[in-house]
Amino acid sequence: MRMRNKCRKPTSVAFPCNAGGSRCSLSVLVWSLVGLLLFLHLYSSLMARNNGGGKVAHVQFRAIHHQLFRELEEVEEENIQIPPPRGKRSPRATKRRPNKKTTTLIDEFLDENSQLRHVFFPGMKTAVDPMKDNGNASSSYYYPGRIWLDTEGNPIQAHGGGILYDERSNTYYWYGEYKEGPTYHAHKKGAARVDIIGVGCYSSKDLWTWKNEGIVLQGEETDETHDLFKANVLERPKVIYNGRTGKYVMWMHVDDANYTKASVGIAVSDYPTGPFDYLGSKRPHGYDSRDMTLFKDDDSVAYLVYSSEDNSELHIGPLAADYLDVTPVVRRILIGQHREAPALFKHEGTYYMITSGCTGWAPNEALAHAAESMMGPWETMGNPCVGGNKLFRLATFFSQSTFVIPIRGLPGSFIFMADRWNPADLRDSRYVWLPLIVGGPADQPLDYNFGFPLWSRVSIYWHRKWRLPTGLSELK
Ligand code: DGJ
Repeated sequence: MRMRNKCRKPTSVAFPCNAGGSRCSLSVLVWSLVGLLLFLHLYSSLMARNNGGGKVAHVQFRAIHHQLFRELEEVEEENIQIPPPRGKRSPRATKRRPNKKTTTLIDEFLDENSQLRHVFFPGMKTAVDPMKDNGNASSSYYYPGRIWLDTEGNPIQAHGGGILYDERSNTYYWYGEYKEGPTYHAHKKGAARVDIIGVGCYSSKDLWTWKNEGIVLQGEETDETHDLFKANVLERPKVIYNGRTGKYVMWMHVDDANYTKASVGIAVSDYPTGPFDYLGSKRPHGYDSRDMTLFKDDDSVAYLVYSSEDNSELHIGPLAADYLDVTPVVRRILIGQHREAPALFKHEGTYYMITSGCTGWAPNEALAHAAESMMGPWETMGNPCVGGNKLFRLATFFSQSTFVIPIRGLPGSFIFMADRWNPADLRDSRYVWLPLIVGGPADQPLDYNFGFPLWSRVSIYWHRKWRLPTGLSELK
């Protein structure tokens, strides 16, 4: 008895072991294995972060560029007072909240007659005109929400867009929806829309001064059966370069005016400035597809990411080697989360994505997601917006994600590209470009990392005015 007790006591402290040695040693084995697995997981995660990019070099780099980062990471507050309610509310605001007596900042934002209109949509007087600065890099300030002029002095028309950095010409190309037409509703319940004109393209060496390269994919004026017939929808065009075929490949969301076609369109060109030949449309993997984007990985495998199942989830799948089609491989992610406007980027081997909620042209809360593999699992990390005020953060600074540009020469730093939609006059929608920094622990621990917040936080900093650090030779 004594001997048995002797054996039992120490064992029962660490592991409840009631019946003899074999069960006891089994639980020791199981717990040791769990411990070992946990240790290995932590170790490999830390190693992964130390490799590929070089953590030490990165830390040194960050220290050297501390000042540059500090400017980008400054938290800037906004204090906007909502004006007292007036007698008349705009029909749009009344439709949104019929019984609402008080107004919210979002109501004010959507109200064409709001006294705050100039805050969200400042006029031509404050337009950003890079040519007026004679290309003087020291004053290359971004002013999120202001009208932004191209090198000819016209407002840039590249909404829902994305950037291609062309290694062959060391040039940035910005592609987006050319919305230079009147806004109307196809029918009473239809969303505000502009007829398809085509995909606009702008080129730049510095991400600030943009030359209009024209419409690189034309809409169709007369053939009603064509996907790009003017009364249809062409949104969120993205272009990637295929090194194997030497072709520039464009994917876009094509739809009818009621958003029931829910397909992707594909076009191709020998040059970044087009013209792009339209190849046709399809429902990828047989699913409905609305907001979409492309992501080209370091190994040149490209992925299509799209909102599906009536926007209730996202789908990710690799493209074929020529980028002209999807492959049968697809993964459903963020199921039931109702996210759209995906914008992807990668840092130190981890994949990140910013998405918006689904509220038409009205702004809503952005979320950041992360994954160790493009095919998932993807985890949601929380709202990445920093600064402004609470309402600014809950409305993604009154904008919606469209793309994330890596800042060359500044690892861990990106430009978050978003659209501030103007549903009353879509051609007058604005661009909100802000610094996005990956660093610091994530807000919410990720489920499958045993509760350890191993991934870095993604932060998008609000600034009324900001610029890229000067002296980034890699940028040009
Ligand atoms: C939200 C999407 O993100 C936009 O691209 C556009 O499709 C609007 N909805 C239309 O309401």
